[in-house]
Amino acid sequence: MSDGGSGNKMWGGRFASGPDAIMEAINASIDFDKKLYAEDIAGSKAHAAMLAAQGIISPSDAQSITEGLDTILSEMERGEFAYSARLEDIHMNVESRLAELIGPAAGRLHTARSRNDQVAVDFRLWVKKTAQKTHAQLRDLMEAFLQKAESHAGTVMPGFTHLQTAQPVTFGHHCMAYVEMFARDRSRFADAIRRMDECPLGAAALAGTSFPIDRHATAAALGFREPTRNSLDSVSDRDFALEFLAATSICATHLSRLAEEIVLWSTPQFSFIRLSDRFSTGSSIMPQKRNPDAAELVRAKTGRINGALIALLTVMKGLALTYSKDMQEDKEAVFDAAESLELAILAMTGMIADMTINEESMQAAAGAGFSIATDLADWLVREIGMPFREAHHVTGRAVAIAEEKDCGLEELTLAELQSVDPRITQEAFGVLSVEKSVASRSSFGGTAPDNVRAQAQAWRERLSAQGSDEAV
Ligand code: ARG
Repeated sequence: MSDGGSGNKMWGGRFASGPDAIMEAINASIDFDKKLYAEDIAGSKAHAAMLAAQGIISPSDAQSITEGLDTILSEMERGEFAYSARLEDIHMNVESRLAELIGPAAGRLHTARSRNDQVAVDFRLWVKKTAQKTHAQLRDLMEAFLQKAESHAGTVMPGFTHLQTAQPVTFGHHCMAYVEMFARDRSRFADAIRRMDECPLGAAALAGTSFPIDRHATAAALGFREPTRNSLDSVSDRDFALEFLAATSICATHLSRLAEEIVLWSTPQFSFIRLSDRFSTGSSIMPQKRNPDAAELVRAKTGRINGALIALLTVMKGLALTYSKDMQEDKEAVFDAAESLELAILAMTGMIADMTINEESMQAAAGAGFSIATDLADWLVREIGMPFREAHHVTGRAVAIAEEKDCGLEELTLAELQSVDPRITQEAFGVLSVEKSVASRSSFGGTAPDNVRAQAQAWRERLSAQGSDEAV
């Protein structure tokens, strides 16, 4: 194939000279879009088969194209493919090698197609595959939490608001909070997958094609539900990638909050959990230290993941329809965010599955800070009909006495409680324990151990009803 002296065999026909080195450097995407090699070859094979089935190219050309593409795939998989920046991107690297392998028939592959629909289909396939993998990995994380929730349905710990001890809760309930969050994250990926499951191949450069192509056939061959309906939209939107990044950012934010809790809980001051040796690091100078580096990195990776979402939103916001080269900048952000999220989920699943729970520390902290004060107020409301506001006030005075005496509410004498309100009886002591406190919170969604067990069971059933390889 002659390149007219331009240096590019694919589009050089009307150019008298090749690109400046800087032009080549800013233009080339092969360093990162080679990640799309398998998708690019799958897309080309589906396209070639369709062209032959429609009588647009001959069966023998289709066959040599397919064989050539298979050879290229194996060269790439063996690490033997010589990628060239001069050929800009993955699409032209593949096509150029195909020409070397099979000669002029290679030039027929690009009939009724453009790099604009080609990159759109490659990238969609990659994002869809990756979102499916994330969806499956989140299930493993949920299962790690379910296991902990079941073992610790009745383990008490302090619940916090403002990071101040608020009311006792169960550790199982806290674990189930994350099960709910990661379940919503999974459903965000599943929703995004459903929406991106349309094939843009055949939109060609932007307007469709005059060849009698069969877009339903290529969509089906590539595992898409159906073809996209508008050629302009097909080559110009990247909202599938944005949705993936948005779901990734929200999920990373959940992981980051969890990471922060792990960092806190594993300090000697809290001492609620101990991370396994497999997920801890030591200090090179302080021999006593066990550092939660993995949790810290999960927390930090949220920064670059959120950055990726903002980067792509910003790339896209000012682009007139349809394709602009700006859109080549869509890939690195997505690749980096996907890799970061995968590591974060896997590290967190390992940390949760392996960590040991220090029930004594949790129990001791659960009762500290007058965490059962609300239980006394509730008793006053329930048993002697006091309006809650007044009960709050009365309990506050009891807390002040206990604070003065430096003891817990349950350690006050009846006489001391009655000095605050004479209607208080011995029965009030019946609610003044963290175990009774959590057991009493049996309202739907509350922290009572029986609720935790029922919710864990319900999630087990929901997950097993979905099967291990649910179609998303
Ligand atoms: N490497 C390009 C990208 O990632 C492929 C599409 C190029 N299309 C074009 N009209 N120059 O966006």
